[in-house]
Amino acid sequence: MGITGVMLASVSQQASTALAAASTDNPLMWYLTRTTAMSAYVVLALLVSLGLMQSIARTSKERLPWVVDALHQFLGLLFGILVVCHILTLMADPLISFSLTNALLPLDEPYRPFAVALGVLAMWTMVLILLSSWMRRHLSQRVWRLLHYLSFATFALVTAHGILAGTDATQFWMLLIYIAAAAIVGFLAVLRLLPKNQKPQPAGLRGR
Ligand code: HEM
Repeated sequence: MGITGVMLASVSQQASTALAAASTDNPLMWYLTRTTAMSAYVVLALLVSLGLMQSIARTSKERLPWVVDALHQFLGLLFGILVVCHILTLMADPLISFSLTNALLPLDEPYRPFAVALGVLAMWTMVLILLSSWMRRHLSQRVWRLLHYLSFATFALVTAHGILAGTDATQFWMLLIYIAAAAIVGFLAVLRLLPKNQKPQPAGLRGR
């Protein structure tokens, strides 16, 4: 190899070393993974809370404005999109090697295996709930309701996943988010289970 060949080989080696260093030093994807994760968690807490409020209103024969239902549906979609972004940014992160198999199966995870496996299970419960909601017209009310109850499992799994896997779980503000979300969802769930003081029905509707 002549002098030009040696120089070219050295330049190309330096370039690839610089590229590798740039990608490993660049924590952008890691920041995006965490941002999408936290946003997804807040959206999930709002989603479950709104669902419980709708359910409480229904069993108490109260009427909520239509916008509550529209917001509930919108948050469901937003949650799905944020979770997909959380997983895609994780797979694109050069600092850690997450494959598609790691994202789909709760086995052999390269990072905090148990905690990440909980996230994968949560993702599958989310898929079942979203799909069954979009196909609601084709399902019986009982099947749809049973699948919708999975949202409590999703919330519990994601809370445990975030606390055990998340970098930010040790931060005071993040802990506050977990505690506030769990307290609100827990409170509404208890309220939903309490016996209702139903509004008396108008005389003409009694017995229906
Ligand atoms: C319903 C689906 C999911 C939700 C809502 C969710 C949410 C979260 C939350 C809230 C955190 C904590 C963020 C932080 O403290 O910085 C987190 C972290 C993490 N999640 Fe998920 N996750 C889900 C699914 C998954 C899946 C399927 C995987 C893997 C394939 C995964 C991998 C991770 C990893 C590796 C971390 C640690 C990131 C870090 O803080 O360094 N998650 N996730």
